[in-house]
Amino acid sequence: MPEPKLLLRGARVVDPASGRDEVADVRVERGRITAVGAGLDPAGAEVMDCDGLVLAPGLVDLHTHLREPGFDHKETIETGTRAAALGGFTAVAPMANTDPVTDNAAVVHEVRDLGAQAGLCDVFPVGAITKGLEGESLAEIGEMVAAGVRVFSDDGRCVPSARVLRNALTYARAFEDVVLAEHCEDASLAEGGQMHEGYHSYSLGLRGQPSEAEEIVVARDLAVARLTGGRIHLCHLSSARSVELVRRAKAEGIRVTAEVTPHHLTFTDDDLVTYDTNFKVNPPLRTADDRDGLRAGVADGTIDVIATDHAPHAVEEKEAEFDGSPPGTIGLETALAAVLTELVEPGIVPLARVIDAMSPLPARILGAAGHGGPIEPGRPANLVVFDPAAEWTVEVPFASRSRNSAFLGRTLRGRVVHTVLRGALTVANGKPTR
Ligand code: DOR
Ligand code: ZN
Repeated sequence: MPEPKLLLRGARVVDPASGRDEVADVRVERGRITAVGAGLDPAGAEVMDCDGLVLAPGLVDLHTHLREPGFDHKETIETGTRAAALGGFTAVAPMANTDPVTDNAAVVHEVRDLGAQAGLCDVFPVGAITKGLEGESLAEIGEMVAAGVRVFSDDGRCVPSARVLRNALTYARAFEDVVLAEHCEDASLAEGGQMHEGYHSYSLGLRGQPSEAEEIVVARDLAVARLTGGRIHLCHLSSARSVELVRRAKAEGIRVTAEVTPHHLTFTDDDLVTYDTNFKVNPPLRTADDRDGLRAGVADGTIDVIATDHAPHAVEEKEAEFDGSPPGTIGLETALAAVLTELVEPGIVPLARVIDAMSPLPARILGAAGHGGPIEPGRPANLVVFDPAAEWTVEVPFASRSRNSAFLGRTLRGRVVHTVLRGALTVANGKPTR
């Protein structure tokens, strides 16, 4: 695709990496930002009028399931990265629970190459911690680090023993900037659990999994991180007490970062009363107190990152009865709008903190050097432009191959207008360009 000169004119530029929050023009040439300021010369450039819009560093999703290889009836790297671009993302980190599992360098290269072929979003594969996600022997972490992987996770499953986690963290410490991302779930408590254990699980007659299933592993992992001095990232926290554990661990100096999803920031177990399987996610949606604790964690920075856990599943899989349907909601196309609607509009979290949680911080954890800003001359032009006031109702079709969205039918405020990947528009005026 040709990369025209672009002049993004008159947007509110919100750039947490430089602290900038002001109306300015941004000029882009040959894939890079060449000027930021007022009244820039439009000569030779395609001018995009961004009056009333927000311009920010392109979003970075630290937790995505793109399903390829192995499950392309749910999603492919092409459909998933198109959904990502539409959601304002310029980089995504697909999890390793594919078939084959991303537990060696060959699969890392395959996933990254498919991402490059699609050209819609930079793809930074997450490597497995253990071979085949079996929780026993370590995956080929060294060769995957050599192939550029910085984040390792058995997501979908929890590392089952403190001993294995200790070995992995100790091994990973040898590499600068490598982080292990944990799906915190004690199998002995969570097994068979269809939703949060509490009033609603009893009244709906569904087997529950208590918050403690998560909190026990959060506490264990923080202790193992202390023991080893390794870096741990806690995926998709769902419980207010988990946030409190992280808050204390950070105060103590343990090397921990944490993440939450837009759906856990929006919904509660109350939403399951219709038995809609799109609300069946793992970890489960919990109580309003939990959701509020997660929101407070984002506001004060205890939770560093907002990540989608985009988890596509085919219609016939999600239409199975509740007990048999797989957990997950898609999220790439709704993440920014959901967070703007639930956190920014009501004044719970400032816009700059939300952008920080969706771009610079995940970019840093991922080692995605060209992403996350700052929006300054010389930097790669990975950008999102969105309309913070646009209202829209979430409905099919999605760019994703799947449609299992917990947000279906919901009216959200905030819509992506343009996404720029290394100077090229992947989305223009709300539509994919390819
Ligand atoms: O809801 C979820 N879906 N949670 C996970 O941890 C895994 C994911 C998936 O792969 O479908
Ligand atoms: Zn997970």
